[in-house]
Formats: sequence, structure tokens, C-alpha cells
Amino acid sequence: MENKITKRIGVVYFSPTNTTKEICKAIAFGMGAKDPIEFNITNPDFRTKLASNQNAIFENIDHIIFGAPVYSGKLPLQVIECLKSISGNEKKCTAVVVYGNRDYGFALYQMVKMLSNNNFNVLAAGTFIGQHSYSDIVPVAIGRPDKTDLEKAYDFGSESLTASSYLSPEDIPVQRDMISKSENYTSIQPVFKSEKCIQCGVCSERCPMNIISPETGNWLNQEAKKQCIGCMACVSDCKDNARFMRANLLMRLMLKYVLRKAAVERLEPLTIFN
Ligand SMILES: Cc1cc2nc3c(=O)[nH]c(=O)nc-3n(C[C@H](O)[C@H](O)[C@H](O)COP(=O)(O)O)c2cc1C
Ligand code: SF4
Ligand code: SF4
Repeated sequence: MENKITKRIGVVYFSPTNTTKEICKAIAFGMGAKDPIEFNITNPDFRTKLASNQNAIFENIDHIIFGAPVYSGKLPLQVIECLKSISGNEKKCTAVVVYGNRDYGFALYQMVKMLSNNNFNVLAAGTFIGQHSYSDIVPVAIGRPDKTDLEKAYDFGSESLTASSYLSPEDIPVQRDMISKSENYTSIQPVFKSEKCIQCGVCSERCPMNIISPETGNWLNQEAKKQCIGCMACVSDCKDNARFMRANLLMRLMLKYVLRKAAVERLEPLTIFN
């Protein structure tokens, strides 16, 4: 099987706190890309554009790296919706999920299954570790991906070019527990403190749900607040600490319990290709 990249490598990522983006770009560099083209599906307007215009958008790309974080052992709903709208036309791709050192559930399986069903040829797949989005409450995988993670991502990129056949969903392991089995997504919404806000508009630009007012820095309204997926993009990008995490005692205890192993044991990336 000839895996030479003749055109460009594209990186399609959903990455509210940037760990997925960082890892996917390291994989692209390992595959020989000097300047991978980024498609940021965290941005809701770009997701809409992609759904209606994918042929033109992917025209000069011959390999796509898809990256998404793991939310409650699954792919975020926004990623599922987006992947549904893309067809592969036999294009080669790499599937990557990034999780907060607890459990990748069946997110990678979901991604490989959707991509295969949509006519992509999945050359390689991997799970990587990023700092847990809720580390302000329970510190987990702080500073990850670190140098070792990024080197592994780079090596995975170059080694994946030697793959001799494509992957199918059956090649992908799953970690099934109560959280990934449930259809629900458990999340924590950030708190907004208007006194600290300088109305810079950064959080509004970064929010994957388009629910923050660029004028006030607050949620657009109460209905919009209910749509918050607790991704922490606004918290990590607010330099004035006007958006931050706060959890009540029960939530704190629950999170400590769920992340008790993740907080002390370092897990390593898993890479899969034939
Ligand atoms: C709502 C939500 C649910 C999450 N669920 C899991 C999970 O089930 N397992 C896990 O290990 N990490 C979980 N995480 C942590 C993220 O997968 C992890 O921090 C990832 O690196 C975030 O990617 P990003 O930096 O690209 O946003 C969750 C994070 C959020 C916000
Ligand atoms: S990023 Fe922070 S300071 Fe800027 S608008 Fe949002 S909440 Fe306000
Ligand atoms: S408001 Fe909610 S969905 Fe939007 S960036 Fe903040 S945490 Fe994410």
C-alpha cells in the first residue's frame, strides 16, 4: 500500500482547551507536514460551513487527521454531528481522541466507525492524554501533552505511513463503564463574574456553542446558558479570571471520586495501525 502524501495534510479538530489540537499537529509534523492546514470545528460557524461546502474545503487535502476530546467516555455531540455531515470519497485519514487520563470509553471506536461508514480509509488511530479540563477542581494530567507525549505523537505520525492495510472498527478497543454506557454527558458549567470582565470578546469567539455575548461576556440569556457543554474554552482563554470553575461540595466529592485513579496514575498513549 502506497501511503505517500502527495498534496497536503489537513487537521480537523474540536479542541476547546487546545490539547487535542496540539497532539494532532504533532502527528501531522511526524507525517512530514511542514505546514498542516487547520480546520477548527470547535468554531460553530465553521462546522456549518463545512457541512455545506466540504468538497471545496478539502479539495487539496490528501490525508486528514481527525481529533476530538473524550467527553463522558464518548465523542462530544458537536463532533458526532459534524462527522455525520462529512463524506470521505476514499480519502485517507487518521482518527485521534484525547482524554484526561481517566478513560477513553468508546470514543475512538465511535470515530473510526463513523469515518469508515462515511467512506474514509482509516490508516491509523490513537488515544492520547491531555490535561483534564476540570483540573482547576481536581488536578489531573497537569501539563499534558508534555514533551514525551508530543514525541510519541510525532513518532506515531511517521510510523503510521508504513501501515499495510486500513483499520476497521473491530480493530479499536473500548473501555466500557457506567459513564460511557450512559447516553448522558456530565459537565460543570463555569461561573461568570461581571465585575472582572473587560468585555474583550475572546470567550465569545472561542465558545463552541455560540452562547456568550461579545458585548457583555455573559451568557446571551438563560436559555443559552442551558446549552453550555462545560468545555472550559472560555475559562482557559479568559485572562482576567472573569470566567472560572466553581463546584459545590457534592460535585467536588463526585469529581474526586471519579478521578481518584486518574489523579495519581499516569496513562500512556495507545497507537493502532496494521
Ligand atoms: C464534559 C467533559 C467530559 C469529560 N469526560 C472525560 C472522560 O470521560 N474521560 C477522560 O479521561 N477525560 C474526560 N474529560 C477530559 C478531556 O477529555 C481532556 O481534558 C481533553 O484533553 C480535553 O481536550 P481539549 O483540550 O482539546 O479540549 C472530559 C472533559 C469534559 C469537559
Ligand atoms: S474573555 Fe473574560 S474578560 Fe474577555 S469578555 Fe470573556 S469573560 Fe470578559
Ligand atoms: S460557555 Fe460553556 S460551552 Fe461556551 S466556552 Fe464556556 S464552558 Fe464552553
